[in-house]
Amino acid sequence: MKDLRIGVIGTGGRGQLARHAHKPGQGSRVVACCDVNPKALEAGREWYGKDVFATRKYQDLLAMDLDAVFVTSPDFLHEEQGVASLERGIAVYLEKPMAITIKGCDRLLRKAKERKARLFVGHNMRYMTIFRKMKELVDKGAIGEVRTIWCRHFVSYGGDAYFRDWHSERRYSTGLLLQKGAHDIDMMHWLTGSYSKRVSAFGNLSVYNRCGRRKESELGNAMFNSAHWPPLKQKGFSPKIDVEDQSAVIMEMENGIVGSYLQCHFTPDSCRNYTLIGTEGRMENLGDGPDSPIFLWNQRADHYRIIGDEVHRGDKADDGGHGGADPVIVKEFLQFARHGGKTTATPEAARMAVATGCQATLSLRSGGTPMKVPAV
Ligand SMILES: NC(=O)c1ccc[n+]([C@@H]2O[C@H](COP(=O)([O-])OP(=O)(O)OC[C@H]3O[C@@H](n4cnc5c(N)ncnc54)[C@H](O)[C@@H]3O)[C@@H](O)[C@H]2O)c1
Repeated sequence: MKDLRIGVIGTGGRGQLARHAHKPGQGSRVVACCDVNPKALEAGREWYGKDVFATRKYQDLLAMDLDAVFVTSPDFLHEEQGVASLERGIAVYLEKPMAITIKGCDRLLRKAKERKARLFVGHNMRYMTIFRKMKELVDKGAIGEVRTIWCRHFVSYGGDAYFRDWHSERRYSTGLLLQKGAHDIDMMHWLTGSYSKRVSAFGNLSVYNRCGRRKESELGNAMFNSAHWPPLKQKGFSPKIDVEDQSAVIMEMENGIVGSYLQCHFTPDSCRNYTLIGTEGRMENLGDGPDSPIFLWNQRADHYRIIGDEVHRGDKADDGGHGGADPVIVKEFLQFARHGGKTTATPEAARMAVATGCQATLSLRSGGTPMKVPAV
């Protein structure tokens, strides 16, 4: 079997995901990388060999003979670089969020259809073993018919990751309800098998606007450090911050399911907690690591019970990023690039996550006015 020839646009940061696709002689090899940062290109040469084609211009990379490309650059570049990649008719792994506007997503969907190109969007949470188990339990009716879903997203590293660089500005990310929320919204849609139809949201910027800023002339960069605590003592933040650091969304979903999504960027600990309530029980994950328990309550009791009637766990995760999800999602993408077929994450669902995040952001910035979410 000939190796798939792969390019990476946005080699540093999240682009390291493509390292799972570099298996010379075993089906795929990274032959080209693009990044505007020379250090990322240097790292690319280290990971993919000194012969790898390295460029600052994605157009040069796309001019090469490639079978597939990873687009792992910042969100605001996904539409332009994704459309240019699809234009080549090759398979595209596009990072989430698919784009920062609904129009941008629809343009990508249209281009993929027009060029018959294989488009895949990197919603890797669908590949985490703990959430696969939750999905399996829901689908086999373990809590009856799902009527309610809540997600609480605690982000301890919010100040490290989202308020120091491009993430902090609406023009680059739309807002964190989309940038970060796209993952959770997609999970809420996936777990319930239902899309949002109408949303109403509230939120504000209430903590990180009060922290120390870097100078305009200094380069912005994420700075992960668990010693960064408490939030109000932190500095080095973007000169311009116009995204919210907390938000709350209420969703009216298809089939009468009601959802709510809460996101906070200044918590001491981190977790994505999903609670699903059905006609025969309630389910909730406590912690989101591969070994975290999923509690399932299916007996009536008129007081709070911390421990569920049943405890489930995901299968043991492989090594690799994001609870073992990253190697698995890359493997599925390579299979899809070669043979096509069905995938766990889909571009249509990715577009619905963006549409819901965008309309929720619009609602949040319009005093909570309910907004319709346009269907694909
Ligand atoms: N699925 C996940 O779990 C996950 C995790 C982290 C990030 N992401 C997504 O990955 C993407 C990248 O995020 P990040 O945190 O790595 O961002 P980043 O700012 O570190 O950028 C990634 C790389 O793209 C490069 N880049 C910037 N502009 C470019 C351009 N014009 N052309 C080519 N390369 C360019 C940067 O130099 C960097 O090396 C985002 O869309 C983000 O939402 C997804």
